[in-house]
Formats: sequence, structure tokens, C-alpha cells
Amino acid sequence: MNAIEQCQSLVKTIYDQFDASHDFQHIERVLMNAKAILAEEPTADHEVVEIAVLMHDVSDPKYSTDKADEERILAQLDVSSEKRVHIQNVVASVSYRGGNELPATTIEARIVQDADRLDALGAVGIARTFAFGGAKGRALYDDSEEARFDMSEEDYRGKSTASVTHFYEKLFLLKDLMKTEQGKRLASGRHQFMVEFIEQLKNERDGKL
Ligand code: ADP
Ligand code: NI
Repeated sequence: MNAIEQCQSLVKTIYDQFDASHDFQHIERVLMNAKAILAEEPTADHEVVEIAVLMHDVSDPKYSTDKADEERILAQLDVSSEKRVHIQNVVASVSYRGGNELPATTIEARIVQDADRLDALGAVGIARTFAFGGAKGRALYDDSEEARFDMSEEDYRGKSTASVTHFYEKLFLLKDLMKTEQGKRLASGRHQFMVEFIEQLKNERDGKL
């Protein structure tokens, strides 16, 4: 078993316990996105990217209180100590945590970050957002939603009470944060689909369709 296969079998049981927004299917889609970006980034280290994707949500603070699982799994992997540190740094920089994350300085970190963000966009992004909101018992939308267009990102942070709010809080901002050319291309179609979805949702809510 190579280090990627070894990592996959160690992380799967952890993701199997998360709700549908962050389950192992999310990891499989992010891996596919990462491979599509890697195809255009010949200098990147595939092994670092793939292992970092597998590891990236293991210690997500929404599901875990410490980094014990991440550290235990990393320590078991059959990779050099330099690679282990590189993987750990990529994982620390992929999440969108309102500026608390490490900057994505390496090409591998940029690829994993874009691959993860792509899975927050488009039809899958919409499905995940309502899955997450459902798991938290949230309303679909907030009746004052339009007013939120004018709020700053900071105003939203931590205050989201309905699933649709998350589009304004985060999802509509992601297309301008993509780092790789392939990531930017894929994000733009997915972004447009979400804009149309929210438009349709508002029209249906208002009895216009
Ligand atoms: P990342 O995986 O980039 O760290 P998050 O874990 O914050 O990002 O979010 C991943 C996905 O989980 C979001 O794109 C969204 O679908 C869902 N999600 C996270 N936070 C919320 C929220 N407050 N409301 C609705 N959905 C959320
Ligand atoms: Ni993720």
C-alpha cells in the first residue's frame, strides 16, 4: 500500500461520521478537482496534494475539538519528514477561516485550496450548504435576506442563521479568491449557476414564478 492509499483508509472512518456536507464524498470530489488542476500545474508534487486533500478536513473545528487525529494519521504515513511538514502546512492553509489560516504560499497549497473551494460552488455547493444547514436545524432562508447584500463580510461572520445567508457570507466571494487559472475557469461557471439559483429561489418565495 502506498502512502496515499494508506492515508485514504485511515481518514475514511473519520469522514464517515461527518454530515453530508463534509463526508467522504466531499473528499472524493475535491480529489477529482485537485487532479483537474494538477493536469495544468506540472511542477506541483502530486503526492503532497493528494494526501493534503485526504487530510484537509480531519481536524475541521466544526467537527473536532483538537488536532489529535490529524497528528496521529500524519505520523503513521510512509513519507519523508520534509514531506510530512509540507503536507501539514498545506492542510493548515486550505481552510477559509476568516483570515486565521496560514497563507497559501506553495503551489500545492493553492491547488488544494482551489479544489476545496470548487466543491463549495455550483450545484454541489448548493446541496452541501442545505445539507449543513439541515444538520444544524437552520431555516432555508432569512426573510430579510435582500438587506444582507449590503452587509460587509465581517458583519455576516458567525451570525448566519439560515442556509441562504451562507451564499452572501462566503460562497459568492469565492470566485474572486481562486488562485490557479484552472480553478478560476471552473469557478466562474459554478458561480453563475448559484447566482441563478438564488434568483429563482427569491422569485418562488415572492410568488413571482
Ligand atoms: P472549508 O471546507 O473550505 O474549510 P467550510 O468547512 O467552512 O469550508 O465550509 C464547507 C461547506 O460547508 C460550505 O461551502 C457550505 O456548503 C457548508 N457550510 C459551512 N458553514 C456553513 C454555514 N454557516 N451555513 C451553511 N453551510 C455551511
Ligand atoms: Ni473541505
